[in-house]
Amino acid sequence: TKVAVIFGGVSVEHEVSVISALQAFNAIDRSKYDPVPIYISKTKEWYTGDVLTDIENYKDLDQLFKQADRVVLEQEREGTIVLKKKDRSLFSKGVITTIDVIFPVIHGTNGEDGSLQGYFELLGLPYVGCDVASSAAGMDKVMMKQILRDSGVPIVDYEWFYSTQWHEQQDEIKQLAEKVGYPVIVKPANLGSSVGISKVSNAEELDEAIDLAISYSFKVIIEKMVTDLTEVNCSVIGDYEEVESSVCEQVLSTDEILSYADKYQSGGKTGDTKGMESVNRIIPAEISEEATAKVKELAEVTFRLLNASGVSRIDFLLNPEGEVFVNEINTIPGSLSFYLWGPSGKDFEQLTDQLIQLALK
Ligand code: DAL
Ligand code: MG
Repeated sequence: TKVAVIFGGVSVEHEVSVISALQAFNAIDRSKYDPVPIYISKTKEWYTGDVLTDIENYKDLDQLFKQADRVVLEQEREGTIVLKKKDRSLFSKGVITTIDVIFPVIHGTNGEDGSLQGYFELLGLPYVGCDVASSAAGMDKVMMKQILRDSGVPIVDYEWFYSTQWHEQQDEIKQLAEKVGYPVIVKPANLGSSVGISKVSNAEELDEAIDLAISYSFKVIIEKMVTDLTEVNCSVIGDYEEVESSVCEQVLSTDEILSYADKYQSGGKTGDTKGMESVNRIIPAEISEEATAKVKELAEVTFRLLNASGVSRIDFLLNPEGEVFVNEINTIPGSLSFYLWGPSGKDFEQLTDQLIQLALK
């Protein structure tokens, strides 16, 4: 079975995607599957080749592009999808391989939001993970919150507005923040990895935070900040028929918001990306048995409400009173949450196997 692991892409989480994807690529059982890497450059070109499977090669992209083959995914005939070479004049020629199933490992825009999934639907190719609608709803934090709130899932108070409203209706939007009540978190509605997020303690700080958020997204959320919070995450695997939740992790951070740098760039100035492994965490989370049970239950409920499939990670905020709020779902979580499944009795090879089997089901 030819499994195309597709990664990179145009989102701000491009680098994280490369790390997550190569981790997954290496975990695929070679006795059952034949993994094929497909790398989407930041300028949207698609490439394949062995050179793509070593993270070191991404330090010199010009060299990497020279050694890789520019490709397209095409329907050869009904039911047969092939990866084809593109020559310099950009006409496709030369079938490299057929593809049986796609394994998308792209975080954020165009990868986790349903657009790529829609492309595979058009091609008629099975793919790992969420379908178009659940990907889109999971990526848009406003839609996600509306779905969760409608079913009584606990979420923190929030308001939202369209970015275009900011310049004409500043007073109304400032009132929204007052209504939520400071301190608040201001975030773009459809980004991941904490990009564009600010903590705002008072009205004076609001403008800057909103200007930042609107530079990333057409919708902005103003969310009640949970003070003295504990961040706990839980992964769920399955589909609408059957789900399973992992052990919980407790995320530790020096700041109250985990920054992109906290998450992926522990190397600091060197910009060395280490992926989810660089996040400081405690597994299992040091919270009560009761809270753990609540988190696992709500993780499964959230997964089902969004009609998710494959593996997701649901992120929670716990306040000192022990209340549990769902913060968000990540339908293509960093490192596919493999580090939560190991302690849950599923190694990374079993995890990728289960995901591919769910896609082929
Ligand atoms: N969006 C990143 C990769 C995550 O939350 O896991
Ligand atoms: Mg996220």
